Amino acid sequence: MRIAVLTSGGDAPGMNAAIRAIVRSSIFYGHEIFGVYQGYRGLINDEIEQLFVPSVGDIIQRGGTILRSARCLEFKTEMGFKKAVGNLNKHSIDALIVIGGDGSFRGAQALSHAGFKTIGLPGTIDNDLAYTESTIGFDTAINTVLHAIGNIRDTSSSHGYANIIEVMGRNCGDIALHAGLAGGAETIIVPELNFKVEDMLEKIKAGIARGKQHNIILLAEGVGKPYELAEQIEKGVGLDTRVTVMGHLQRGGSPTAYDRNIASLMGAFAVKLIMDNKTSRVVGINGFRVFDMDIDEALAIKKTIDLQMYELSKILSI
Ligand code: ADP
Ligand code: F6P
Repeated sequence: MRIAVLTSGGDAPGMNAAIRAIVRSSIFYGHEIFGVYQGYRGLINDEIEQLFVPSVGDIIQRGGTILRSARCLEFKTEMGFKKAVGNLNKHSIDALIVIGGDGSFRGAQALSHAGFKTIGLPGTIDNDLAYTESTIGFDTAINTVLHAIGNIRDTSSSHGYANIIEVMGRNCGDIALHAGLAGGAETIIVPELNFKVEDMLEKIKAGIARGKQHNIILLAEGVGKPYELAEQIEKGVGLDTRVTVMGHLQRGGSPTAYDRNIASLMGAFAVKLIMDNKTSRVVGINGFRVFDMDIDEALAIKKTIDLQMYELSKILSI
């Protein structure tokens, strides 16, 4: 068989480990494997080339994606979509593996509905796909944020600042929640849950009264407005407040062992699905157990925030 792989949407640490697993498993089982560069844009522009065992050497430890990535609006148009399918047929590709997030999966879904054999692999730092316990890149991102919290806590404690750290995740608060709980943040603000500024101000005051030297506030980008929040703290509590926007710092870097391992497991599994003639499936992970699910079903599941973790973060930061 001739299998193709692409990475799409925001890059995520561990995408390379997934590409490596897909390339090497395909070759191990006797198939030809092709890389599509720049996601759906490369499908439209015919940036497709065959990959070999050495093509994926020395990449397991690298962040980003050797296939590069893109956000491609043209793929959503009828003409762009037709060009993409035309190029897949031109190269006689039998099946495509799409590594990406929610948006990329919508693209994979469209290809599946058009009759093209497609498998999705969850790759995004956001962890915003409800059907899987974790997406490739999320663990690395939260550990990068955790490292930043540690650094900020040092300087925060020295000066007695309040520190707002804005993290990514689009409309999903998982990065803020998981990094915040692990980092002992005083306040975690996520888009999924209502939040009262007054409660936070009271908490900061109580913290100062009992001699707390720092105040770490993890703010998800889906809520936003970090500078307005800083002003409210300065006015409401009289505490010097600093803002750090983590930005793309949290999207790069060498993947953690967990991300490398789930990427390897899911990448190899995707190839097995294709060999079993399956299509319109997405691969997920639960613990270290890999599974597959229908893409329509998977995308219909609504992502929710872990309330137990959220409540615990409040209890532990009194
Ligand atoms: P992510 O995959 O990280 O969520 P995006 O939402 O930017 O990133 O999606 C990546 C790409 O997937 C888009 O640029 C577009 O090419 C494609 N895509 C997104 N939504 C759709 C859709 N509804 N139909 C077809 N393709 C889509
Ligand atoms: O989906 C990954 C992500 O990093 C989001 O967390 C963030 O909102 C977005 O991508 C940023 O996109 P860009 O790199 O295009 O600025």
